[in-house]
Amino acid sequence: MRIAVIGAGVMGSGIAQVLAQTGHDVVCTDVDAAALDKARANVTTGRYGVDRAVERGKLSRADADATLARLRFGTDLAAAVADVALVIECVPERLDLKVKVFRELDRLAPADCVLASNSSGFPLAALAAATDRPSRVLVWHWASPPVVMKFAEIVVLPSTDEDAIARVRELAAACGKHPVVVKDQPMAWGYVANRIYAAMLVEAGRVVAEGVASHEEVNRLMVDCFGWPVGPFAMVKGAQTGFGDA
Ligand SMILES: NC(=O)c1ccc[n+]([C@@H]2O[C@H](COP(=O)([O-])OP(=O)(O)OC[C@H]3O[C@@H](n4cnc5c(N)ncnc54)[C@H](O)[C@@H]3O)[C@@H](O)[C@H]2O)c1
Repeated sequence: MRIAVIGAGVMGSGIAQVLAQTGHDVVCTDVDAAALDKARANVTTGRYGVDRAVERGKLSRADADATLARLRFGTDLAAAVADVALVIECVPERLDLKVKVFRELDRLAPADCVLASNSSGFPLAALAAATDRPSRVLVWHWASPPVVMKFAEIVVLPSTDEDAIARVRELAAACGKHPVVVKDQPMAWGYVANRIYAAMLVEAGRVVAEGVASHEEVNRLMVDCFGWPVGPFAMVKGAQTGFGDA
């Protein structure tokens, strides 16, 4: 499949890598040429990049080279989406920006192309309404780092095309993810995973504000009690800046 990823930041670069590693031709675009340079470095020599995967014995050198050969980077949005079957939007979490990008994508991408957003929580209804193809718009919410996390929360409306849902669900499974299709909820932010996570974070913040425990102590307790890879506050930091290059 030919796929375009819009926004080459923490999520976009990792998502582009996963798709290319799964055998798809991917073009990753950004308005910022420096972000594209960083994305190229991330997918090659970054902590989750293909070179490290080769070092760890998770990928052969030939597969790593083939992955990189399937990945292109550029700033030209029109060229990137001209002949793709799927677009995954990964621009910053601002509704005005996402609506603007979806309007552009609707104008530039082929009529049958599925437009997916990796939004963390904006209602799908608001994004779909920005286009003339609302039934071919959905949310494919990934978790960070995309190369590692199996999470694939697919958010749909009752009017979303079955064919669009199947295209994304099958692709997510082929990428080694565990797709779960959930309903859009226009009155809430966060779909399922982030709604529940946000409720937990409010309580964690309360514990700190009450002086019961520090941020670090809350992180330590939650990791040790529940086997989480990081605690709630470390997760927020990781989501904003990535999980480091160590
Ligand atoms: N970081 C996480 O853990 C995480 C997890 C799941 C979902 N998300 C969601 O993924 C999306 C992207 O998050 P991120 O952390 O990768 O952000 P980021 O800031 O790392 O990257 C966003 C990129 O988009 C680019 N951009 C801005 N405007 C653009 C435009 N008009 N066209 C093309 N590119 C543009 C920026 O230059 C930047 O490189 C957000 O909606 C976020 O909520 C993030």
